[in-house]
Amino acid sequence: MWGAIEHLGRDDRTRGYLRDAWSPADLELRAWFRQEAARRGLAVREDRNGNLWAWWGDPSDRPGVVTGSHLDSVRQGGAFDGPLGIVSAFAALDALAAKGFEPARPLGIACFTDEEGARFGVPCTGSRLLTGALDPDRARGLTDDEGDSMAEVLRRAGRDPGALGRDDETLGHVGVFVELHVEQGRGLVHAGAPVGVASTIWPHGRWRFDFRGQANHAGTTRLQDRDDPMLPFARTVLHARELAERGGVVATFGRLRVSPGNANAVPGLVSAWLDARGGDETAVRTLVAELTAFSGAEVGNESWTPAVDFDAVLRDRLALVAAEAVARRTAPPDAADGRGRPPRSARDAAGGAAGAVAPVPVLPTGAGHDAGILAAAGVPGAMVFVRNPTGISHSPEEHAEASDCHLGVAALAAILEDLCQS
Ligand code: GLV
Ligand code: MN
Ligand code: MN
Repeated sequence: MWGAIEHLGRDDRTRGYLRDAWSPADLELRAWFRQEAARRGLAVREDRNGNLWAWWGDPSDRPGVVTGSHLDSVRQGGAFDGPLGIVSAFAALDALAAKGFEPARPLGIACFTDEEGARFGVPCTGSRLLTGALDPDRARGLTDDEGDSMAEVLRRAGRDPGALGRDDETLGHVGVFVELHVEQGRGLVHAGAPVGVASTIWPHGRWRFDFRGQANHAGTTRLQDRDDPMLPFARTVLHARELAERGGVVATFGRLRVSPGNANAVPGLVSAWLDARGGDETAVRTLVAELTAFSGAEVGNESWTPAVDFDAVLRDRLALVAAEAVARRTAPPDAADGRGRPPRSARDAAGGAAGAVAPVPVLPTGAGHDAGILAAAGVPGAMVFVRNPTGISHSPEEHAEASDCHLGVAALAAILEDLCQS
């Protein structure tokens, strides 16, 4: 599967990915998703918000266990953020089918649309629209760099923008959602573990800062006559860093539009996007308020995602199930029973309590995910992380070793099996 998609949307000069929502690359990836589902006899449907669902069993009978992730990327992103969760989902279903497993409840794979928000600025529009966290009128009016609205882009892709909005029927099919994802830091590297599970997602948001000035000639305008918006912008970037250090949070200006954008002109407008996150919501909001006041810019909030605490009971159970699955795959031959399993289950070996196999690490994350949007809407969820040796993400250097990806699949398969039994 990896080989079938690795070239789609790849910039061969940088090796980075350009998979904006509804771009030709995204449409090809969506077609690939449908083919993979069809090859396995899974029924696929696209919901009113462009999210794809492949089902083993009928979720209208009973809410199902769903896994999956997204196929779009940030601009010049890595190969794993998103696609690893989708490829692993298909691979986990294959592993379950191969052992003759018959799910007692429907099992689904979701491919969420536009998770990164690279095109229209707001992340997770697919899951936010599904849950009602994003107003459909606002979504339809969001524009891309070409000035095309989401409504126009959807129409061009043969979709009905009028259908966008909260979709209780589709949401009602999801009993629990588990997203596997490449880790976007080095927590698992430090823990020496190939797989982990998520505890929380930091609260995070995006703000647009517009600094206005007077466009003018770069050669003939005396310094004292200039109204150059690049200067308050530059001071604001430096101040953001100071405030972030003081507040124990992170703040990033990673996107900038300079108008008119001539090397030989003082700009008339500098628009910059702040991404701010942290473990403490008040600290994030304080930073944004102080920076707004300092900047003198017009500031608008483009998205906000509150903190998400994944259900602790589910998380701890899945951390143990994942650990057992990893142990089964990595057990030395003399500890196994000939079928690659440790002598007894971890729980039995500990006399009914955990002990023989320690649960996989439980980690917080500063990255946003559709699993967080669903959890905020009341859908129980969890995340499985796969070790990333570079710790780098949203960049072509993002990486996961194939052996760790296989352990991730084994952990995911065991988790789905566990969740499908009840
Ligand atoms: C998505 O990956 C985000 O954290 O912004
Ligand atoms: Mn991402
Ligand atoms: Mn992602």
